Amino acid sequence: MTHTAHFKVWRGDATGGGLADYEVEVNEGEVVLDIIHRLQATRAPDLAVRWNCKAGKCGSCSAEINGRPRLLCMTRMSVFDPAETVTVTPLRAFPVVRDLVTDVSFNYAKARDVPAFVPPPGLKPGEYRMAQEDVNRPQEFRKCIECFLCQDVCHVVRDHEENKPAFAGPRFLMRVAELDMHPLDAAAETGLDRKTAAQRDHGLGYCNITKCCTEVCPESIKITDNALIPMKERVADRRYDPLVWLGSKIRRR
Ligand code: SF4
Ligand code: F3S
Ligand code: FES
Repeated sequence: MTHTAHFKVWRGDATGGGLADYEVEVNEGEVVLDIIHRLQATRAPDLAVRWNCKAGKCGSCSAEINGRPRLLCMTRMSVFDPAETVTVTPLRAFPVVRDLVTDVSFNYAKARDVPAFVPPPGLKPGEYRMAQEDVNRPQEFRKCIECFLCQDVCHVVRDHEENKPAFAGPRFLMRVAELDMHPLDAAAETGLDRKTAAQRDHGLGYCNITKCCTEVCPESIKITDNALIPMKERVADRRYDPLVWLGSKIRRR
């Protein structure tokens, strides 16, 4: 079945812009990205949008639909009432390049700030041994497609540009948590304490577990429950554990 939908699409660039109105044909089974492509083909050939796989796997087509961060290629038109106006805007937390395309380089800078896995000394690749449980746990985090919807929705940076230098965002705090729970990571032997770094360098304390990141994740990763809260608990346990406290005092002497 075909119907005509009313769309509002943000058009503009870094200097400013606004919502443009379009009446556009919608066919059964289509997703919002199909409609954006139809607009490019029929009404707005210069409409800028980033996309790649159209299968929810590349993480490129992130935008906001009716104010909610979503993948354009995974949002079916059938979720909207045919009479409803569908509003498509660029990710709000990142600077606009043009139309629906934003500059997400903030996220790549944050990725570079997280020191990589440190191989255990004395073991060659192929000699690593881990409990299956320790292998399974981070598999969930490895499903991340780096769409940055969680980074966009988190209130710590969404309307607070000033927090960006101090806060890595849920995706990269999850990466720190993954490395911290890795039984073979030898970062500590190089003087890197991942728990201290989580608080001091990546802003774990800014997260007040609102769970908006988890709600928008297209891979259904339980970012808050399985990565951020356990990381906060490990940091707190250490801080309030009297033996750890005593150890740190002795070491400091
Ligand atoms: Fe996207 Fe989820 Fe990865 Fe965040 S954790 S970047 S929402 S896939
Ligand atoms: Fe932000 Fe997620 Fe924490 S939305 S506040 S990182 S739970
Ligand atoms: Fe690849 Fe949407 S186009 S996730």
